[in-house]
Amino acid sequence: MSWNRIKRSTGNLPVLLRKSAGRLPALRLLVAALATTLYLHAGYKIENIPYPAELRGGIASIAFTPSGTLVIASRYGEIWTRRSDGRWQLFMRGLDEPMGLVAESDRVIYIAHRPELLRATDRDGDGRAETFDVISGAWGQTINYHEFFFGLRRDQEGNFYGALSLESQGEKSPATNLPTRGPRDVTDILEPSGQRSETTWRGWAVRITPDGKLDPLANGFRQPNGVALSPEGEFFVTDNQGDYKPSTGLLHVERGDFHGHASSVKWEPGFDPKQVTTEALWRRLKTPAVVFPHGPMGISPGEPVWDVSGGRFGPFAGQVFTGDYSKLAIRATLERVAGGWQGACFAFLGRNETPGYVSGDKLKAGITRAAFSPDGSLYFAASAGWGAGEDGLQRVSWDGHTSPDLRDIKITERGLTLSFTQPMDPATLAKPEAYEVTRFRYYYHYKYGSPWIDEERVPVTATRVAVDQSSAELTLAELKPGFIYEVSVPTLRTTGGEGLANPLGYYTANRLLNGERTVGGTTRLARPDEKSLGAKEVTAAQSSPAALVAAGEKIYRMYCVGCHQPDGRGMPVPGGAANFVDDQTRLAKPDTELLNVIEKGKEGTGMLPFGAILSPLQRKSVLAYIRASFSPSAKN
Ligand code: HEC
Repeated sequence: MSWNRIKRSTGNLPVLLRKSAGRLPALRLLVAALATTLYLHAGYKIENIPYPAELRGGIASIAFTPSGTLVIASRYGEIWTRRSDGRWQLFMRGLDEPMGLVAESDRVIYIAHRPELLRATDRDGDGRAETFDVISGAWGQTINYHEFFFGLRRDQEGNFYGALSLESQGEKSPATNLPTRGPRDVTDILEPSGQRSETTWRGWAVRITPDGKLDPLANGFRQPNGVALSPEGEFFVTDNQGDYKPSTGLLHVERGDFHGHASSVKWEPGFDPKQVTTEALWRRLKTPAVVFPHGPMGISPGEPVWDVSGGRFGPFAGQVFTGDYSKLAIRATLERVAGGWQGACFAFLGRNETPGYVSGDKLKAGITRAAFSPDGSLYFAASAGWGAGEDGLQRVSWDGHTSPDLRDIKITERGLTLSFTQPMDPATLAKPEAYEVTRFRYYYHYKYGSPWIDEERVPVTATRVAVDQSSAELTLAELKPGFIYEVSVPTLRTTGGEGLANPLGYYTANRLLNGERTVGGTTRLARPDEKSLGAKEVTAAQSSPAALVAAGEKIYRMYCVGCHQPDGRGMPVPGGAANFVDDQTRLAKPDTELLNVIEKGKEGTGMLPFGAILSPLQRKSVLAYIRASFSPSAKN
């Protein structure tokens, strides 16, 4: 029997598996065993790659030289290389948190570390660098632990691209008597914020010419922990959710842009504090090309890389991949619409670990670095350094089998076109009810993150299925710019009855095809009467216990899933998020105790306080969802 026939005849095993759960445990085991043996191909394989035990502190940057030598830098400041014979060698040490590399050759490596852009050269070819040249370091620096220089990319003219992050003070007022490089200005812009720009060019994305001249391009960044040039040479970064940042996302950087965080505008030429208001900044705001909605699409994305392997990495050639701290790999797509970049994002790995889709080792938590190897596989590097992640190096390769998945979402004149990696069952594809489309946007404010606001279900009024059954064009009842469209298709099946590996995507409609766009992108300012947020949801949630659980699911997906995971099993690392399923002491605690933890957090652990973000009813509903889904009595 051919592979496809086997696959087709067993295609809905995962569904069967779920349906038989509980009732027939023996059958479930048998079917699971069958499923693993029959799914000889899985699509993607994850392998843990060993590296020298001396290398401690996790991996802070990764690159390949043109000859295929793997180069990694540890967070504690060492660079190691692995040549084609598999031998590891120490290239240099003594760096200060090297967050990015350009490996020009086996002998010349450019490094973005906190204080400077450095060139390290191995002149005699013994595998170790002995010459070090500072290219630039013309930015301010204090001793604050959170001031990074993220990087690094180089264009064809030899210019370097990087981004300088803000310092993190929490709510504490800054100590001004400590040594500082460059001018210092501790004034708050608008509101005091947890992260600040107190020395020059903090919160800016920069270009550095080959002769070392610093060219600050754009500002408003917070922790832009992923710097990239697209294959066409366009500059993109990923930034982290937080104060002034409603969500994470992939941001397109052009000269003069303002990307949201107020603190960095103080270094603009001709800066006049009297001109700065929240509204004035919002009017200039450029929101992400692709919003990665905080929660369902992770909590902290890293370095974006383009698949230019020409199909050796599977059906997503040309798309963008990035790791996220929350045990997730994200896949994003971009299109030019009326002169601006926008696109879609999907979970790639980490949210669906069925044997039909991925094999090998489990994806690590704490991934922030990525690089495509010359052989077309994708390397991810992780560091436990910033919370409950893991240290490690992983290789993801495609095994030649294409699993059914959403390939892309694109905007049309009246709606969205969804494309798939395989032909789909045309009958389900044609049904408007098969598509759950919801749109939402965010607040622009100095507060940390934002709830989803102006959220509406958008009916699909018509569908048109392509002749090859690999895409469907949806007409929406309404299509507006300045919104993020959530598209969920859990019931779609291939002709063989298989569901999609990741049936959820988000399209960021910054602009419509006719050029229509809104001020403030995918955000708006809060109206003065919006003190109590989400009144509509509150009424809905109170209507029945099932409605309470449904409201809680949404909150769980938005705020908790990144740490506690979709299956409620948390993070399998010391200090990792609680496992509600296997650690039965957790949900055995009474509601009052757990609600108290959700409100106030747990001092000294990763469990954050949600009292300021979630209303009492929202906290109650998310706990109701957790109990309904993960306690021993819950059916799943
Ligand atoms: C940044 C990671 C993170 C996020 C986000 C997070 N948690 Fe937690 N959570 C943790 C950790 C870590 C623990 C374990 C704390 C400990 O050591 O007891 C935990 C524990 C818990 C517990 C068990 C408390 C106990 O006393 O046993 C509950 C309930 C809980 N979280 C609910 C939530 C809810 C609800 C959300 C979303 C609104 C959420 N968590 C978001 C990390 C997180």
